[in-house]
Amino acid sequence: MHDITAMAAAKQGAARNPNFLKHQRRFPTIYDLRRGAERRLPHFAFEYGDGGAGDDTGIRHNWAALDSVELIPRYGVMPKLPPVGVELFGRHYAAPVGVAPMGSPIVVWPGADKLLARAAQRARVPYTLGVAGGATIEEIAEIAPDVFWMQLYRFAGNDHAIGYDVIRRAEAAGAHVLMLTLDVPVRTVRSREVKVGLGGGGRFRADWKMVASMAKCPGWAVAMLRNGQPRFANIQPYAGKGASLNDTIVFARREMGGAFSWDEVARYRDRWKKPLVVKGLLHPADAEKAVALGIDGILVSNHGGRQVEALPPPIDCVPAIAKAVGNRATVLFDSGVRSGTDVARALALGASAGLAGKAFLWGLGALGADGPGHVIDLLIDELQSALGQAGALSPAEARNIAVRHPGALHF
Ligand SMILES: Cc1cc2nc3c(=O)[nH]c(=O)nc-3n(C[C@H](O)[C@H](O)[C@H](O)COP(=O)(O)O)c2cc1C
Repeated sequence: MHDITAMAAAKQGAARNPNFLKHQRRFPTIYDLRRGAERRLPHFAFEYGDGGAGDDTGIRHNWAALDSVELIPRYGVMPKLPPVGVELFGRHYAAPVGVAPMGSPIVVWPGADKLLARAAQRARVPYTLGVAGGATIEEIAEIAPDVFWMQLYRFAGNDHAIGYDVIRRAEAAGAHVLMLTLDVPVRTVRSREVKVGLGGGGRFRADWKMVASMAKCPGWAVAMLRNGQPRFANIQPYAGKGASLNDTIVFARREMGGAFSWDEVARYRDRWKKPLVVKGLLHPADAEKAVALGIDGILVSNHGGRQVEALPPPIDCVPAIAKAVGNRATVLFDSGVRSGTDVARALALGASAGLAGKAFLWGLGALGADGPGHVIDLLIDELQSALGQAGALSPAEARNIAVRHPGALHF
């Protein structure tokens, strides 16, 4: 009883998915959702969302590194689950968990961006729209006004005309945080995408295998009929009036690319007056640079293992970056989060919140519209349990948890 009351209080206004208990019986963990997604999705859709660089070694390393972090509990301090509400960049959120930006999550589940945004708004946790996503900035602002963060890739042509227009629109629509992705200086190959006919640089053409696998997945097919063909909703208008999907792909490949230089980051800092986050840093010296430019947050990330599999697991870089940054900026973490316990690990090592990408796609694949909310509920419940077990009274106190972290990097 004690625990239930504490849990309700800890949610601080956030609404839990009404079908939580029903879904929990089938999918008690995020990994169960992954298995469900693999069964339920068209093969190409699962492969697109689940695959990483090369042979997925980077993804496996991210998971193994998180698994190896142990929280050493202190007992006798707290008889109930702790509240997990947090303040990030001056706003209150129900928990230090959130949705990482994704381009084309609609390939995994039609309508994905809006479903993710709706679940995040309902739970009051951050949602980040990818500039290469399938819903417009204005649509997301309407769905998720209190939790809307915006990601941007580099569009350098015409002196950043597109990038600047995107942030103008994001500002006008009420996005609270702008996130600049720095960790895609080159395009790399994801073998599982290429094998199913996605990625690899060509134009998109649905082959017979794709059509056959769609036909075998009625839930997905209905979602597709309801939402229409995938589109790069934010990029399409810049590709020209009436631009088709393939015109937009060709346009995006030409206009979008390269990582922001620090000079460019400084220019965005000048233009964007609200909180600014740089995404993808792994070296404390880069974090120092970001802080020197007045950046508000650093997302320690290796793009979820999707760029190059030799990058270190970000969790191993969190302590050094948190130490370098101190309280001058907020450290966020992603890459490999499969549970609220993983988020507790990141908090214990110095991060202020943990975001997830693939976990949300697995939720969509396994449960459709209810999936993102179920992922958020699992993350929050598991986070509370992990903090409560370790004896932390709040997310901020997680930093006092003693940790064994064999992979920690020392620079
Ligand atoms: C399908 C997919 C698309 C992604 N697209 C983007 C993107 O457009 N921009 C970006 O900054 N990160 C992108 N990411 C990376 C995520 O923001 C995040 O860093 C990563 O998913 C975290 O790792 P996890 O999937 O293990 O949680 C993408 C990830 C996935 C799975």
